[in-house]
Amino acid sequence: MVKQADLKTDRFYKRAKKEGYRSRSAFKLLQIADKFEVIKAGDVVVDLGAAPGGWSQVAKGLVGERGVVISVDLQRIEEIEDVVIIKGDITKEEETIKAIEDLVKGRDAVDVVISDASPKLSGNRDYDHFRSFELSKSALNIASALLRKNGNFVAKIFQGAYYDKFYRSVKEKFRYARAYSPAATRKRSAEVYVIGRGYKG
Ligand SMILES: C[S@@+](CC[C@H](N)C(=O)[O-])C[C@H]1O[C@@H](n2cnc3c(N)ncnc32)[C@H](O)[C@@H]1O
Repeated sequence: MVKQADLKTDRFYKRAKKEGYRSRSAFKLLQIADKFEVIKAGDVVVDLGAAPGGWSQVAKGLVGERGVVISVDLQRIEEIEDVVIIKGDITKEEETIKAIEDLVKGRDAVDVVISDASPKLSGNRDYDHFRSFELSKSALNIASALLRKNGNFVAKIFQGAYYDKFYRSVKEKFRYARAYSPAATRKRSAEVYVIGRGYKG
């Protein structure tokens, strides 16, 4: 749990406020995108677990005017210019796939799937890890249904017993897989991002 007092001294929180990002997590995606070049101008990007919308703002900036960003979350996301917002549960995978398919007119039309989805933390590390694993697995299943060949994937997972299993499934589906902790991830956090490049289709 992050205390209000910690936020006040957090440099990424301060930068997010200053630069107009809705979350300090925006810097995590900026760092991932810079290092792994997963999003380019003109791409169609699906952002899973997107509220309040920091990653979607970053993705929209990277894809530019020709690109499309579709953002999905259980919670309401305030409108973001030129971003399509879907209120939904990503663990209802078929529903989510169908809603996105209807927007992009079919499968194989998505270039990148990113997921920063997290469960509400209970404080029980094993339980939180398992729920994070379930969300990451849903993100990977949605990506597998929608990504075009050679598309890219980024998903957060909390470290724990099922981490290796998740990493292996990304490795199986993509030509290149890496785990990465951006500088904006808090030191005490168990989160790690798994990056998959070059979806095998
Ligand atoms: C850390 S926040 C995402 C922050 C976001 N990347 C940003 O930069 O603003 C995690 C989000 O995952 C969402 N989430 C958790 N479970 C979900 C589910 N089953 N379906 C959709 N979204 C979910 C939460 O509602 C929350 O908004």
